[in-house]
Amino acid sequence: MKIAHISDTHFPQIIKESFDRSIKKINNSDIEFVIHTGDLVDRGYLREYEEAIQSFSKLKKPIIFVPGNHDGKNVGLKLFENFIGPLNGVKEGKDYVVIYLNSVIPDMNEGRISNSSFLWLKETLRGHLDKEIKIVCFHHHLVPVPNTGRERNVLFNSGDVLDLLLKYGVNLVLNGHKHYPNVYKLENLVIVNAGTMCSIKTRLGDKNSFNIIEIDDKIKVKTLRFGEIREREYERKKERIYNVNSEKLFRIVQIAGTCIDNSDIFNKKMFLNAFKKISALNPDFIVHCGDIVNEGLNKNYTLAAKYLKTPIFFVPGPRDINYLGYNLFPKYFDFIETHVTKKVAFKFLNSCQYDSDIGVIGRGELDRIKQFSRIPSEFKAIVLHHNLLPIENTREKGLLEDAGDILYELTRLKIDLVLTGHSSHPSARKIENTLVVNANSLSCKRQRNLFGNSFNIIDVYKDFIYVSEIQSLSGSRHVLGIWKRKI
Ligand SMILES: [Fe+2]
Ligand SMILES: [Fe+2]
Repeated sequence: MKIAHISDTHFPQIIKESFDRSIKKINNSDIEFVIHTGDLVDRGYLREYEEAIQSFSKLKKPIIFVPGNHDGKNVGLKLFENFIGPLNGVKEGKDYVVIYLNSVIPDMNEGRISNSSFLWLKETLRGHLDKEIKIVCFHHHLVPVPNTGRERNVLFNSGDVLDLLLKYGVNLVLNGHKHYPNVYKLENLVIVNAGTMCSIKTRLGDKNSFNIIEIDDKIKVKTLRFGEIREREYERKKERIYNVNSEKLFRIVQIAGTCIDNSDIFNKKMFLNAFKKISALNPDFIVHCGDIVNEGLNKNYTLAAKYLKTPIFFVPGPRDINYLGYNLFPKYFDFIETHVTKKVAFKFLNSCQYDSDIGVIGRGELDRIKQFSRIPSEFKAIVLHHNLLPIENTREKGLLEDAGDILYELTRLKIDLVLTGHSSHPSARKIENTLVVNANSLSCKRQRNLFGNSFNIIDVYKDFIYVSEIQSLSGSRHVLGIWKRKI
């Protein structure tokens, strides 16, 4: 099948030449239908809807419109329903299903798939398990997009939505909102962001653009940016791992959220038990992804230094640097920038901002990451506290504010592994060739995992990476996944 993916037209703020040229290109192509991923109009006014509908009458292909945050301004969603159609819907073909849904919170830029829409999406996916190709569309971006400034307006529940799409084997998700074209493959899901097809609201001086997507054994995304075509191509089927007798290179134990203090938030029994198990696992490296102490107070750091005597690599979390922690962290724990061996090179990042939950890396550090990527070690890992990808079971608020640019660079530089420790829930996802693993809290009573407090073991073999989560108290193992390494 072949479809066109257009977005963010923002009527009436359009460049007419871009609109006409795109529509002509689509009309003259062999695409089956068009999907518009939202922000059809700019302020949700009647006149804007009338103008948009009038202009789209030139299109000679069927089109699905998905609502965007701008369509919902000034009670615009009512007009959207009257003029365009339902906010959620399904289009079915012999081999495919397209499910589109509303992610708009009226009069807000942030997005959300509501509880009822989430359940509806789940039921609809369950009802179409037999379809070879499953496509889901909504306006707000699912994962951070590069070159769009500060990361915000991401779906509140993007971690849960991502988890659902992966569980039901969705092949393709189409988003708009950020006005910058981007394509990622995350596990087996191809995530496509469209730029703005014709509005004046481009970023980085970027041109207007839209996507042509072709799906057979492969998913081919062609971004037409007038004068320039970018193409990405991915296998549709999941790659299999054959060589299970591969040589083991090293083992990392990844921990986070020990939250040491004198209160009962810190589960001392859990902590001591977990460390007994960690030493029995004989890791080559132990990495602590932040929130060592519950609050950055002297008494907590004194206690933490007593408990954490094993050689560990540390990065700070927001709890480590609040109050006096900013000065105490370097006094009690070594923060090194890199650790390099022939087999593996680690780069440790401080992503924390004083008295803020939101992380940042910044451009200077990004330059140092680029230098680090040129180190000749076989395997490269980046360690930081904040999340680069949304995590399930949590409202999305732990992302870096520059997550879009950082994620883009880390995948482009083919960093093998990224370790994070925010949001108190384990997660392991491969995006492009980079595996991103998040650790749950090891011994803090504030955690979101039904499996209980836990830490991760990451076994790196010559041909694959094997990640499991170990329950802090019982030591029982839950496999998070096995991923093939591309060498
Ligand atoms: Fe937009
Ligand atoms: Fe938008």
